[in-house]
Amino acid sequence: MDAYRIVGGKSLEGVIEIGGAKNAALPILCATLVEKGTYILKNVPALKDIKTLSKVLEKLGLQVENLDKNTLKVVNTGLDSVEATYDLVKTMRASFTVMGPIIAHEKKAKVSLPGGCAIGARPVDLHLKGFEALGCEIQIHHGYVEANAKELKGARIVLDFPSVGATENIVMAAVKAKGTTVLENAAIEPEVEDLCNFLVSMGAKITGIGTSKITIEGVEKLTPGEYTIIPDRIEAGTYLVLSILSKGKVKVRGAIREHLDSFLAKLEEMGCEIKEDKDLMWIETAIENLKPVRVKTLPHPGFPTDLQAQMMTLMTLVGGTSEIKETIFENRFMHVPELNRMGAKIKTDGNSAWIEGVKQFDSAEVMASDLRAGASLVIAALFAEGETIVTRIYHIDRGYEILEDKLIKLGAHIERIKVEGV
Ligand code: UD1
Repeated sequence: MDAYRIVGGKSLEGVIEIGGAKNAALPILCATLVEKGTYILKNVPALKDIKTLSKVLEKLGLQVENLDKNTLKVVNTGLDSVEATYDLVKTMRASFTVMGPIIAHEKKAKVSLPGGCAIGARPVDLHLKGFEALGCEIQIHHGYVEANAKELKGARIVLDFPSVGATENIVMAAVKAKGTTVLENAAIEPEVEDLCNFLVSMGAKITGIGTSKITIEGVEKLTPGEYTIIPDRIEAGTYLVLSILSKGKVKVRGAIREHLDSFLAKLEEMGCEIKEDKDLMWIETAIENLKPVRVKTLPHPGFPTDLQAQMMTLMTLVGGTSEIKETIFENRFMHVPELNRMGAKIKTDGNSAWIEGVKQFDSAEVMASDLRAGASLVIAALFAEGETIVTRIYHIDRGYEILEDKLIKLGAHIERIKVEGV
């Protein structure tokens, strides 16, 4: 299996480019199931998760082709199947988001339950309540969810929690339903907004985009076309941590500031001065001058759970005791024992973590337990004394486009090696 061998302590310098947002590209790719036609999607990140979803779409009867590294052409000439099987869905929970668009197209769907996941139970009850409200009869057997509707009818749906996936699935199921759907307590993440903007670009009638009340007036037909995916705010946040640790020599290109508001506000509270020039963003404030802070992950516009692990790596090098409360996912502290193997002093109790600052990370052999946890370990390793091996980097490949190439360009000593077992 692939692992990273990282020799820390090299000084990093240069500009790092932000790719397209994985979490916007995935639901937008799913949305090509809604209507027949040809789609051109630009700024799609070249990631394992995108390949996995492309396979799911191909199994359903779509043709997916790379026109260049970051441009996908998707042709929908009708679906061959309405079934997304376990072997594909189990590898990536986000593929459950094909359910809404298949229902919109065919008024029925059969999709495997995503199953357990490293960062918590992650049920799909909110998705299913939404489909039911739109007129689907839902049955669950043998690990599959089956939906059947005589007709999809607009409805008022109030989500118990602003789930990103449920909002996306319900919006897509509703775009061609009869009448008006009002979705309250909807997720307002920029990726949800991007999906809605994509659907509107095809002629969907959606208002309240970017707010917690989304109104969808069903239309008979949509007109596929071309769309450019927004930049990845989580990738940007990850690399801003690198910027701080490199004393501002690493600059980040292409981030959208508003998408990073709560993250940047926390950095400012720590004492960081955010510098911007045209499309570049960087932070020169010395780590010694930063203060500990308390962070609570929340739905957007709160602090994103997907930047929690990277923030913890930063906090480890800040004097005093910082605190993180994870409220979105249970069991999302799996990077803690790994960071502690690298000399961090982090204690956890339930969904809270206390991070006591240390002067430096030690090198060690560590394991990536999920995508963002993996990123936090790579950052720690880049600034550790000596050689660190990060195993299970297939998690990192799911969400960071050619990470080692980008880091090598900055002067990092990082290479992909093969290791036995894990
Ligand atoms: C998406 C992102 C993920 C991010 C998360 C929160 C994608 C592909 N993934 O995941 O990177 O960390 O948003 O910003 O976009 N829940 C339920 N019932 C449901 C649905 C969700 O209880 O039907 C719970 C989940 O278990 C979890 C919480 O709601 O505890 C948040 O989940 P959700 O917002 O749905 O996240 P995802 O869409 O899975």
